[in-house]
Amino acid sequence: MASGVHCGGRLAALPCVATVVIFFSVVSMPPYAECVASQPPPPPLVLGYYGLKCPIAERIVKEVVSAAARRNPGILAGLIRMYFHDCFVRGCDASVLLKSADGQAERDHRANRSLQGFEIVEEIKSWLEAVCPMTVSCADILSFAARDSVALAGGIYYDVLSGRRDGLVSRASEVITNLPSFNSNAQQLVDAFAKKGLTAEEMVTLSGAHTIGVAHCSLLSSRLYNYNNTGGIKPSTVDPSMDPRYAEYLKTKCPQPQGNGMVPDTAVFLEGRTPAQLDNKYYQDLMNKRGMLRSDQTLQESPATAPLVAAYAGKNELWAREFAKAMVRLGNVEVLTGKSGEIRSRSPKHLLGAVAIAHTQPQYALSIHTLIYGTHKTSIALKKA
Ligand code: HEM
Repeated sequence: MASGVHCGGRLAALPCVATVVIFFSVVSMPPYAECVASQPPPPPLVLGYYGLKCPIAERIVKEVVSAAARRNPGILAGLIRMYFHDCFVRGCDASVLLKSADGQAERDHRANRSLQGFEIVEEIKSWLEAVCPMTVSCADILSFAARDSVALAGGIYYDVLSGRRDGLVSRASEVITNLPSFNSNAQQLVDAFAKKGLTAEEMVTLSGAHTIGVAHCSLLSSRLYNYNNTGGIKPSTVDPSMDPRYAEYLKTKCPQPQGNGMVPDTAVFLEGRTPAQLDNKYYQDLMNKRGMLRSDQTLQESPATAPLVAAYAGKNELWAREFAKAMVRLGNVEVLTGKSGEIRSRSPKHLLGAVAIAHTQPQYALSIHTLIYGTHKTSIALKKA
């Protein structure tokens, strides 16, 4: 809620005292104004929030993300995307992680079914609950994990502010009204980001995340076959905004869906030259009409966004610097701090999770233990000194 006096009813914009006076003098009925005392503004996110509460928190996140990336480099893209999907629906509050018994949580929505990395976030939570119970929010874990993924995939470093708290609500129905679609045009993308307090430039900059990871054929077939439903007349019409040679290549990966829709939904690299490296090749591809999604290519077609696409295509360092800043801004979207929300609780499942990891991956578990033990030893030594 915004800070300041809040009065119910139609005169909400006026201060409480004025409202009551007006009610007494103008309306001959009992005062109805309900005045709520001024609330202090919620505290902002800060750098090093866990410095005293759980000094090892960020190192544990980094260790788990690094180990996960060694097993599966594609997970870095998954964690970056999850951060975006979380922040755009109810703010960066880890609502994307909540499960519901009736399958109606955010993660159940079609747009979230291909999200990767839930188990990595749970793994991090398991370790953190073992070391600092009920201290580190899942929302902060997501933002740390995204930052570490960006560092590992692109050598791009930035500081993450923390102190987010976890939301209590997650609704599948809110996904579609907040996340932009892969068919959006540039104006729709600008509007979707503006609703979250992000600029058109930040939208173009953050879309550069599509230089890593994959998209599924089901999202591409409308560009490769029967574009604009010209099907019956010109069965193999390709989206004219796509380089025909690129379209031919994509068709080898994504066969035309048949009437029964029974085609394996293969995943294709969003940017095929360096698919695991966060760099500006995404923008170079857009300049060559090789953007995979409509929502990608539209950025190069729209006069409002095209100049920035061209600038990023020519200068990787420029994009990397702006990307780091925009990721921090994304992490500020509608955050819960102070007394809002909660720190999701320690559950037996988390503790069992840590035990399971120790059994199945003893070497990796040992490295975490060394990290924890080493840090404890250092802090004891520091206290004694
Ligand atoms: C501008 C609006 C955006 C749209 C319409 C969009 C849409 C999509 C779609 C449709 C996919 C493919 C999903 C699949 O088939 O599995 C995807 C993948 C991805 N998106 Fe976006 N996205 C947008 C912005 C962003 C932003 C802001 C980020 C992060 C900062 C991001 C990060 C990613 C990543 C890393 C992948 C690959 C995920 C993986 O390999 O698991 N996207 N996006």
